[in-house]
Amino acid sequence: MAQTITVVPGDGIGPEVTDATLEILKAAGADLEYDFQLAGLIALKELRNPLPQATLDSATKNRILLKGPLTTPSGAGFRSINVELRKTFDLYANVRPVRTIVPGGRYEDIDLVLIRENTEGLYVGVEHYIGMHGDPKAAAESVMIITRFGAERICRYAFEYARKHGRKKVTLAHKANILKYTQGLFLESAQDVARDYPDIEWEDRIIDATAMQLVLDPYRFDVLVMENMFGDILSDLMAGLVGGLGFAPAGNIGVDAAMFEAVHGSAPDIAGKGIANPTGLLLSACLMLDHLGQPDTATTIRGALETVVLEGKARTVDMGGKATTKEFTTALVRALG
Ligand code: NAI
Ligand code: MG
Repeated sequence: MAQTITVVPGDGIGPEVTDATLEILKAAGADLEYDFQLAGLIALKELRNPLPQATLDSATKNRILLKGPLTTPSGAGFRSINVELRKTFDLYANVRPVRTIVPGGRYEDIDLVLIRENTEGLYVGVEHYIGMHGDPKAAAESVMIITRFGAERICRYAFEYARKHGRKKVTLAHKANILKYTQGLFLESAQDVARDYPDIEWEDRIIDATAMQLVLDPYRFDVLVMENMFGDILSDLMAGLVGGLGFAPAGNIGVDAAMFEAVHGSAPDIAGKGIANPTGLLLSACLMLDHLGQPDTATTIRGALETVVLEGKARTVDMGGKATTKEFTTALVRALG
């Protein structure tokens, strides 16, 4: 029986890249049924709720989501629905592989995986203003929360991932020299977990030095693990190593649920123009197929993607081409034969 998944096309370029991805999944013969649901700005407009109960119910039932980007207002306004979904389903591991597809970029043959803790750190949303001298916003405070449980389980996930995927090394990026309690606990937890994996090489590095090393010599890394905000920032940097956000997929994995989405956002600057690159969401769908036990279909899609990109006739604008989302999708469907 086909697996039913919840599909949330989302905001901005979300519906465009979702349509493209579903068309390619169909052409590749993915064994899936779709339950379409709303979330984000579009849900706020149509249903007056950025995370409607029907969407939550569908995700609770299906346990697997394929999600387009959701617009989050900066500063005031509703809190991130992405963060909310990760919290609701305890999707603690954010797995972000980056691999070179388009040759001729700054680097060739990049093949790295960033594993970001997804439920703790500064993004727990424990923050408030402090009023002083008649100014209600004289100061603001955000609390970084790290638990031994959370740090240990994400580090264990990283080592298990390395083992399962035949990877050699795990790097923990942290800031335990300055944030001695929160980052110190993370480092201590990682050291404890690393003892259980003598077969995997392991190192810890300071986060800022890691950022520099990733640019100078990305080949020295393999699997990287870190807390939430550091992972958010470095995953965009790492997407840059392979040509930008258009190519970066992500899986948010929990014990009994998972959500797959591109790393990029709703790209309001190009929304509705039909020129978005659907590769980020498509590669996320491939991670989903791997997760659901349909790895052959995922491999077929990755192969077709490589063919189209290498051929170079139907590249989207961000890849240096002129193809629209539709033209790129058609070329991919054709490559799937
Ligand atoms: P963004 O990722 O939407 O865009 C950054 C730049 O990359 C833009 O110039 C955009 O045109 C380009 N870009 C992004 N995806 C592309 C694609 N598939 N093809 C071609 N070009 C692409 O980041 P930005 O502008 O900072 O955020 C916009 C909104 O998205 C915000 O409301 C933000 O909160 C939200 N967001 C949502 C995420 C999610 O739902 N997981 C993740 C990141 C941001
Ligand atoms: Mg981000």
